[in-house]
Amino acid sequence: MVGRGAVMEKVRIGIVGTGMIGELHALAFAQSPLAELVVVCDSNRERARAVGEKLGVPFVYDSLEVFNFPIDAVVICLPEHLHFAATIEAIDRGKHVLVEKPLVSDLEEGKQIIQKAKEKPNLKVMVGHILRFDPRYAQARQMVVEGKIGKLSHFYARRNNRITDALRIATRSSPLMYLGVHDLDLMLWCSGSRARRVFALANFEVLKEYGVPDTILGLIEFENGILGSIELSWILPKHHPGAIDGIFEIVGTKGMIEVRVLDQGLRVISEDGYWMYPDTMHWPILHGYLGGDLHREVEAFLRCIVQNIPVPVTLEEGLEAVRLAIALEESYRKGKEVLL
Ligand SMILES: NC(=O)c1ccc[n+]([C@@H]2O[C@H](COP(=O)([O-])OP(=O)(O)OC[C@H]3O[C@@H](n4cnc5c(N)ncnc54)[C@H](O)[C@@H]3O)[C@@H](O)[C@H]2O)c1
Repeated sequence: MVGRGAVMEKVRIGIVGTGMIGELHALAFAQSPLAELVVVCDSNRERARAVGEKLGVPFVYDSLEVFNFPIDAVVICLPEHLHFAATIEAIDRGKHVLVEKPLVSDLEEGKQIIQKAKEKPNLKVMVGHILRFDPRYAQARQMVVEGKIGKLSHFYARRNNRITDALRIATRSSPLMYLGVHDLDLMLWCSGSRARRVFALANFEVLKEYGVPDTILGLIEFENGILGSIELSWILPKHHPGAIDGIFEIVGTKGMIEVRVLDQGLRVISEDGYWMYPDTMHWPILHGYLGGDLHREVEAFLRCIVQNIPVPVTLEEGLEAVRLAIALEESYRKGKEVLL
């Protein structure tokens, strides 16, 4: 690792979960000058082998096996219900942790992780809220902090996603946990306040066999009086040109800010008439290297370890976004307002 005398050594990384996002993390860490990707793990043997062989690193199938390798940090890219056990195990074994969002799917588990991390204050434990590393959202928040739009009045967020993602993971996640926590975290980050009460409505048709809603509309009142409105839908057509139809608006007493991500400045039209809006912001490959928000998130995590500075997304913040998501879900299930 780092910091012995003047010698700068690399942070040695083990990645658990090499699915959709885990493979991208593996690539980002493998390419970072601050890191050495030591081992990857996936219980799906084909996934573990494919990513390990592609990046030329050892691969294992049991998450405990990564601790047989000389690693300083674990990156957890498992389905959300497995984040708790993997994070606790890594902290117990004295490893720094980057855990994908949502931190957990259960509040008690989140509290236990926070408690466990407090016992090891030398470890960096960060939640991967990727939009904090997106220049559009980060600049929006910076302008709020600088008072450029006055006192905040309300947020409006939309994060609608193609049905293809829903069909991939609806058996184990939900629009609030997979999509909503991104914008809920942004609202919490920008408002500087906890939420006081929420109300949500949802409908079930296309995805009802999975027990998750097609669409959720939610209202939030923050403790400092700011209001929030969120729209989440998981049933955009499979041929929708962008993966995400997203809007984040912040209205203040002296102005407003808009982030719009239906396309990302790049539109491609194929011969058969289909439009595509490829990713240019989250994890684009630039000149053979993974760039964008994920790259910045990974570098931020590594910098915290190398420079021994606080993580930019804390466990407490990760849990607050989950608390809000769970409250919104409780509200649409019970059909009434929920106090936090
Ligand atoms: N930051 C983002 O923009 C972003 C994008 C996608 C997903 N995510 C988050 O990342 C996490 C993973 O999502 P995903 O879409 O990559 O899921 P995925 O299903 O594509 O990948 C999860 C992987 O974990 C493996 N796995 C499951 N149980 C395991 C176990 N016990 N031991 C080892 N491996 C195991 C699976 O085989 C799979 O390959 C979720 O929390 C999700 O919310 C974040």
